Amino acid sequence: MDKILVLDFGGQYNQLVARRVRECNVYCEIASYRTDLEKIKAMDLKGIILTGGPNSCYEPGAPTYRKELFELGIPVLGLCYGAQLMQQVLGGRVERASVQEYGRTEIETDTASPLFAEVPQTTVCWMSHFDYISKMAPGFVSIAHSKDCPVAACENRGKNLYGIQFHPEVLHTPEGTVMIRNFVRTICGCDGSWKMDAFVERTIREIREKVGNGRVLLGLSGGVDSSVAAGLLARAIGKQLTCVFVDHGLLRKNEGDEVEAVFGKNGIFDLNFVRVNAQHRFYVKLAGETEPERKRKIIGEEFIRVFEEEARKIGAVEFLAQGTIYPDVVESGLGGESAVIKSHHNVGGLPSYVNFKEIIEPLRNLFKDEVRKAGLELGIPEKLVMRQPFPGPGLGIRIIGDVTEDKIRIVQDADYIFREEVDQALAAYAAENGTAAPWKPDQYYAALTNVRSVGVMGDERTYDYAVALRAVRTTDFMTADSAHIPYEVLDVVMNRIIKEVRGVNRVFFDLTSKPPGTIEFE
Ligand code: XMP
Repeated sequence: MDKILVLDFGGQYNQLVARRVRECNVYCEIASYRTDLEKIKAMDLKGIILTGGPNSCYEPGAPTYRKELFELGIPVLGLCYGAQLMQQVLGGRVERASVQEYGRTEIETDTASPLFAEVPQTTVCWMSHFDYISKMAPGFVSIAHSKDCPVAACENRGKNLYGIQFHPEVLHTPEGTVMIRNFVRTICGCDGSWKMDAFVERTIREIREKVGNGRVLLGLSGGVDSSVAAGLLARAIGKQLTCVFVDHGLLRKNEGDEVEAVFGKNGIFDLNFVRVNAQHRFYVKLAGETEPERKRKIIGEEFIRVFEEEARKIGAVEFLAQGTIYPDVVESGLGGESAVIKSHHNVGGLPSYVNFKEIIEPLRNLFKDEVRKAGLELGIPEKLVMRQPFPGPGLGIRIIGDVTEDKIRIVQDADYIFREEVDQALAAYAAENGTAAPWKPDQYYAALTNVRSVGVMGDERTYDYAVALRAVRTTDFMTADSAHIPYEVLDVVMNRIIKEVRGVNRVFFDLTSKPPGTIEFE
């Protein structure tokens, strides 16, 4: 399989570079610039991309790489910092620019360069730099310039070395994907055969080789990642896999049964499936607790306890499998050079509560949408694979204040109605317009406020709960805006909830963005 290495110098767009390469159906991995040359040689690479980074390459101690990297005979493309570094290491000069370029910038390309094949001579790109290449290294020629930047891109075609001062990986560079495709497909000669079915087949083979006759234990949450991991492992090793699905009673309506229908006895895979109906235990532990962080802790700890008990029943296993995906790895600071954003629970610390020898993470190199593609490839129902994010503590953090069985019923029913109506409206919009609705939320659910208020229904006074609807649009879940759900849809939802869900007499819509609000209520 053709492979590209994205050598990470700490830039903010590095995951995007990897994404763009994979969109060209070429497999790639990100590694830190500290990766040893010998290791890189052993990777059997078709090409290397050096990313941007926050430093100036002429500063003492700035990230750098040995000259030999450019002498391996492997094509190299430097982006922004990567381009400057390549020039400096090979004998060119980089200096602070008198005019800083930032934002959309027009450049003139020399279309004769293979890097710019099919790119118009005048095109727009995204610049973000303080430094510029004031003198190119011997053997290089400029292949693009802007008003303020004489070397917006350069090449040494004979040696297959290329540098781009701007960021082709961001969408603000409309022709950027074409440039990256030119590099990986034409210049590096990758055949573009990286597809999900190839990934699925290869991974199944690798799992079989690794596991042999051993036994594997997987904690199945019903979320997308662990479900797809379960599917892969099931196809690879069948009954050698045991999935433990802990139903903590804080799942969405029918969710536990849906997971069991897919992975249980009469499901689509041949594996050992254990559903632990631990609802009651969680309700007892949560009773009377109102403090959000305590609630989260109680749910997390009880979850581990239940899993531990089940694992003990199963006995020693050789392997523990986890649904870790690529962004988890990168966010935990293990993939490239990005700052540690949060220590993901799936990565790094191995759980001590299960007796096992080794860990298996079959999705470790995939992005979320790739995980979804793999899931569909494995025949897991679309409904499960395309699920929106759902927090581990479940409805426990969507019920403000103390959790009771009655409140869980209310929030499950209200949430079901909200999602059903929104999904229907989205489908109707798409059918009519041939495109997704501009208000399509990325996450939407109903929560239970702890507020009761006076209302009137059928001439009777009521004193019931208020349900809150939340719908947000977001790309990274770090910031979010409330989604503009059409008023008519909200109106239908409100009417249905009041009519169909006992114990509710008021419906609110949460307009708050993040920040200051978070997406979840607790
Ligand atoms: P917040 O509420 O922090 O949520 O704005 C951001 C995203 O993370 C999800 N979320 C969680 N996911 N365990 C999870 O697996 C959790 O404890 C958790 N808390 C929040 C939330 O649904 C949203 O998508």
